[in-house]
Amino acid sequence: MDLNFPKGFLWGTATAAYQTEGNNLNSDWRSIEEAIEYEISQTNGIDHYNLYDSDFTFAKELGLNAQRLSLEWSRVEPENGKFDRKEIEHYREVLKYLKNNNYKVVLTLHHFSNPVWFEELGGWKEQNISSNIFIRYVTLCLEEFGELVDYFLTFNEPNLYAGFYPLKHYYKERIVSANRYIGNIRSLMKTHVKSYELIKKYRKSTQVGFCLNLPYIEPYSKSILDVLAAKLINNIGLEYFSSYIRNYSDFLGLNYYFHLKAKANLFNPDRFIVLYDGNAERVRYGVKGIKVNIDLSNINVGEVYSDLGWEIYPKGIYEVLVELRKFGKPIIITENGIDDTDDLKRAKFIKDHLFFVWKAINEGVDVGGYFYWSLMDNFEWFEGYKPNFGLAEVNHKTKERVVRASAQEFAKICKFNKLEADPLPTLNNKQNRNV
Ligand code: BGC
Repeated sequence: MDLNFPKGFLWGTATAAYQTEGNNLNSDWRSIEEAIEYEISQTNGIDHYNLYDSDFTFAKELGLNAQRLSLEWSRVEPENGKFDRKEIEHYREVLKYLKNNNYKVVLTLHHFSNPVWFEELGGWKEQNISSNIFIRYVTLCLEEFGELVDYFLTFNEPNLYAGFYPLKHYYKERIVSANRYIGNIRSLMKTHVKSYELIKKYRKSTQVGFCLNLPYIEPYSKSILDVLAAKLINNIGLEYFSSYIRNYSDFLGLNYYFHLKAKANLFNPDRFIVLYDGNAERVRYGVKGIKVNIDLSNINVGEVYSDLGWEIYPKGIYEVLVELRKFGKPIIITENGIDDTDDLKRAKFIKDHLFFVWKAINEGVDVGGYFYWSLMDNFEWFEGYKPNFGLAEVNHKTKERVVRASAQEFAKICKFNKLEADPLPTLNNKQNRNV
């Protein structure tokens, strides 16, 4: 039996400007990139800024009909209030290239990076200043790029960014106070609402939303305390966004990567809820009343994990999609992907996740598209250029792209808009496609 996807389903890959363009000298991530990967940073990163046409041509050959990308704000507005005409023209060319090649364009306005001058003014913690400044930028984007965009995403993963955003200033810092987190998130979501209203006022039919990073969180054990802990974390995570999704979004973007297990730990006041990564005895986050303790280290514990040490748990995407149905909004999977340098697990990773996406659609969840992260290997924030999520491998010396075999497997699905229900080899994983 073939598993068909709805007509008009968006098949694409997702990229972000800072991670792919290279040479973003006015961005607040530049100093971190240089600290992690000095040599590559000095040679234009993966240089998608100059190679975008051949990159998108390769995506087209895979049969993709949509592309998610972002603009680098620090290029468009390198100084407070001064817009750079040359960079605006560059992005117009990029977007026109996509449109001329019949792509549906999903444009992210903010994907984790800010201009340095914005940081110097206090960044997102200064709610009024940051919001007004960003809205001025959104207004420009609307005027210059509006007609070339089908879907706007205002913010990428505000739920994650609000937590790790302050960390980058003190690279080794691992504690974000809840006050700081809440301050950041308020500021981001207030700006989302204003951006949503602005875009809808001038371009009624353009779809506007934001995307969340939502792992599937289940109880660590059957104990009532663990069940409550998982419920609490899930609710805190989603309920906060509920009114923004219901009232200020045409669709919701879902970025799904992994699975966590919540364990209540009442006798350890430092970490009264601990989130474990899948079945590994590895703590990712400990939550205490006012502090979120983030462990950025990664341990690879076997073949059910990606090279970054993230557990592969395809069924989780189904669980999250079913949970999101309550908002009554279309969902687009704006990111899902794997760091897999040798390309041994990627094809199966994609197919298994798509199987569960199909299952959710089949049960009535409105899913409009799937964007694999990412088109080619790129800069992975705190980990530099080591993780390899790409459908194409990048040679950092020559910048040459070599298409991975899994890309061809993905292409078959996109071209025919269906997943063949062939017997796929199963990883040594506790859960598989037979649910
Ligand atoms: C982010 C991407 C990142 C990916 C893989 C997502 O949280 O939006 O920028 O590269 O995860 O870590």
